[in-house]
Amino acid sequence: MLKYFKIWCFLSILLGFMVMGFRPENKALALSETYKENLTKFQKTANLLQQTAKKGSSHEIKNLFINLRTDYKTLECIVEYYYPKTAAKLNGPPLPESEPSEPEVIIYPTGLQVLEAYVYDDLTDDNRELILTEISNIKTAIEYLILNAESLKFKDEEVFEALKLQLFRIATKGLAGFDSPLANTAISEIRTNLEAIHSLMLNYPYNDEVTVKIKAAIGFINTTTLDFNEFNRAVFLTVYLNPLAETFEAYQKQNHIADVTEQRLTDYRKWNLFAKNIFQADYLAPEDNKNADTLQIALGKMLFYETALSSNGKRSCASCHHPDKAFTDALALNQSLDGETVLARNTPTLLHAGLNPVQFYDSRVAFLEDQIHDVVSNRTEMDGNLETISLRLKEKNHYLSAFKKAYGAKPSPSFIKKALASYVRSLVFLNSSFDHYMQGEKEALNTQELAGFNLFMGKGKCGSCHFLPLFSGTVPPLFEKMESEVLGVPANTDTINAKIDADLGKYNLYKIPHQKHAFKTPSLRNIALTAPYMHNGVYQTLDEVVDFYNKGGGAGLGIILENQTLSPDKLQLSETEKKQLIAFLNALTDKAVY
Ligand code: HEC
Ligand code: HEC
Repeated sequence: MLKYFKIWCFLSILLGFMVMGFRPENKALALSETYKENLTKFQKTANLLQQTAKKGSSHEIKNLFINLRTDYKTLECIVEYYYPKTAAKLNGPPLPESEPSEPEVIIYPTGLQVLEAYVYDDLTDDNRELILTEISNIKTAIEYLILNAESLKFKDEEVFEALKLQLFRIATKGLAGFDSPLANTAISEIRTNLEAIHSLMLNYPYNDEVTVKIKAAIGFINTTTLDFNEFNRAVFLTVYLNPLAETFEAYQKQNHIADVTEQRLTDYRKWNLFAKNIFQADYLAPEDNKNADTLQIALGKMLFYETALSSNGKRSCASCHHPDKAFTDALALNQSLDGETVLARNTPTLLHAGLNPVQFYDSRVAFLEDQIHDVVSNRTEMDGNLETISLRLKEKNHYLSAFKKAYGAKPSPSFIKKALASYVRSLVFLNSSFDHYMQGEKEALNTQELAGFNLFMGKGKCGSCHFLPLFSGTVPPLFEKMESEVLGVPANTDTINAKIDADLGKYNLYKIPHQKHAFKTPSLRNIALTAPYMHNGVYQTLDEVVDFYNKGGGAGLGIILENQTLSPDKLQLSETEKKQLIAFLNALTDKAVY
């Protein structure tokens, strides 16, 4: 009997393996089948919406539009990863874009977000036409995906990176409702994302813990609320999503699934977006200045306080970037070097500047090394010349010795730039109460601050531009690009006769019309220390800033800009809500020594 039992066991295990299909090629095949089925469903819904859009009611069109979004959310993880350009055509932001390589070529947006604006507008004949055009754009993108589906080969390490990036996307854009500002379907779409992750993981063995955590996250959504404003992001992230990410990290290790080791701003080994040290400023350093050591950073710090960098020997970087004010100066606009005029813009913080893919309010420079050249030689700022400065530093023994220790060389323009840039790059802490809370210290944020976080991500819509966890326009999940936005920031605080500030921002670079008055979305980390606010320092307090947003930005003040990208709708925040929001902003101050 025992013998038969053993044979039976053996056969059932064998059968189990055959049925479950855990051999790699079967797994890839199963993933491919599911992907293709999902694409077919997406296409069917698009066809149905096309039919309905011709004659149907606004209500019917909206319902099908939401179904179409849901179908996309099932595919999002894979499509965003393998076909980022098509993903942008299907669900990119509804704003004109241009590539850095060809700034003058304007790419007009297409896809679900463009369609959303039409679907939620009055249903006139003209609008039906617009809806139909957009559906046909979406159908073209779907056809492209279907055409390429057969040749897409799923590899484990890529699937796992796609999964990781999807978790980042949920935590950032997802929770902020970035891509459904009118439909307000963000929370139910996160559930769809999680269900898709679950179905993907059915192809991977021994994933009990992962499955339990995915189901728990879905369960939380099901038992609390789908309401965009009410959903408790703080609990969802700390109790469900971050632990899920960590379970994935452990699973990947245990199962020896390789990491995609491609360099990114986030450490490729980490899955929890809020983990300590996940962001690496070195990724954005030029090849010849990565991994600066402590001597190089110390030299950079010395130079940062060196007045010999300016032509009149009176100004150092620290004259405008005061460390005790998070490297700002408490002035709306600082003075020009000769004291005759003021600078064009407000002095920004340097904390976390090393994580910005571009520098300055108009994003005109990519590398900190180049930015330093810009500042030092700027007539109004320092009016210096790096060659002359090198000569001056060579006359000072302590500099000769510091440059020798740091670089084994004499002071030179290139090493001055490198040392200063490395110092600025070292000013990355990500060590605020918010970070502590996200890392599991439940007491780190009080109830008022937590309510403020939820407002930041929900009703206030702040998180759809100031993306978690850097709170800037650095776009998740890859954190490679920096967004600029048009808010309609006024020239002064006169609310009766508000006038747009004359600074044209990014427009000055390439004269692209839609970039008039566009400014990079700055980080809100350490915002309690960096008043006054905005590129022109127009607002003295966070109350004033929140008021500006609450009114709908420039539009709410009566400033007419056809390219304002901030929604002109009033936020309807109550006095209590405004206080909560500001309490949260005040919890973004780093506990750090610099
Ligand atoms: C006279 C005041 C002043 C001095 C001196 C000064 N800065 Fe600045 N800094 C500014 C202003 C104003 C801006 C914003 C300019 C803009 O956006 O067009 C800025 C921007 C920057 C930025 C870009 C930050 C971001 O997020 O865009 C960095 C980095 C920086 N400065 C570093 C330095 C360093 C290093 C020095 C010394 C070599 C220095 N600054 C000297 C006023 C100053
Ligand atoms: C449409 C995108 C967008 C949204 C939504 C948005 N911001 Fe901003 N925010 C920006 C941009 C861009 C700037 C810089 C504007 C400028 O300097 O002219 C900015 C600047 C700020 C500043 C000043 C930063 C500084 O260093 O001077 C604060 C504070 C701020 N935002 C808070 C918020 C809050 C709070 C919300 C939600 C109520 C919010 N933002 C929503 C894009 C946005």
